[in-house]
Amino acid sequence: MRIPPIARRTLLAAALAAASASVVHGHGDVQPQPVDTKGLPALGPDLLAENPYRGNPKAVEIGYSGYTQNCARCHGLEVISGGLAPDLRRLETGSEGDAWFMERIQNGAMINGTYKMPPFRDALSQEAMWAIRSYIESRHVDEG
Ligand code: HEC
Repeated sequence: MRIPPIARRTLLAAALAAASASVVHGHGDVQPQPVDTKGLPALGPDLLAENPYRGNPKAVEIGYSGYTQNCARCHGLEVISGGLAPDLRRLETGSEGDAWFMERIQNGAMINGTYKMPPFRDALSQEAMWAIRSYIESRHVDEG
């Protein structure tokens, strides 16, 4: 059977889309999971420099779920690292820690041309990111 040229183009486009999707999410990476942030104040489009939800129990609860679905497979359940990625309980608290947290969660970590940590800027809302930060900070421990 001859495939009409239009259908062939559609098939080719679908095949290309599938191929590029597997490049972006290569080596068995798990898709980022959306986080439902209902119940938290909305933050608007501009990225804040500091966590507006620090100490907010609702944010900690939502952040726990977001963390468990998106971060725990590398950074460990309940933020206790098994050694695959840094232990985020030791991330600095306060605004200094916020800045580094945002840099990493937005951009991921590319090392020698591959992502050791995927960027989450297109996958998670700012509300979800700060909720996750709130949860991580609630688990903070000092060095030692
Ligand atoms: C595929 C594994 C993976 C996933 C998933 C992942 N990370 Fe990471 N993350 C890493 C690795 C590896 C590093 C260390 C990168 C380096 O050596 O600079 C890192 C570094 C970080 C850092 C900087 C830590 C430091 O001490 O400098 C933060 C903050 C961070 N990740 C947050 C997150 C959050 C929040 C999530 C979930 C939304 C997440 N990561 C998901 C692998 C991952």
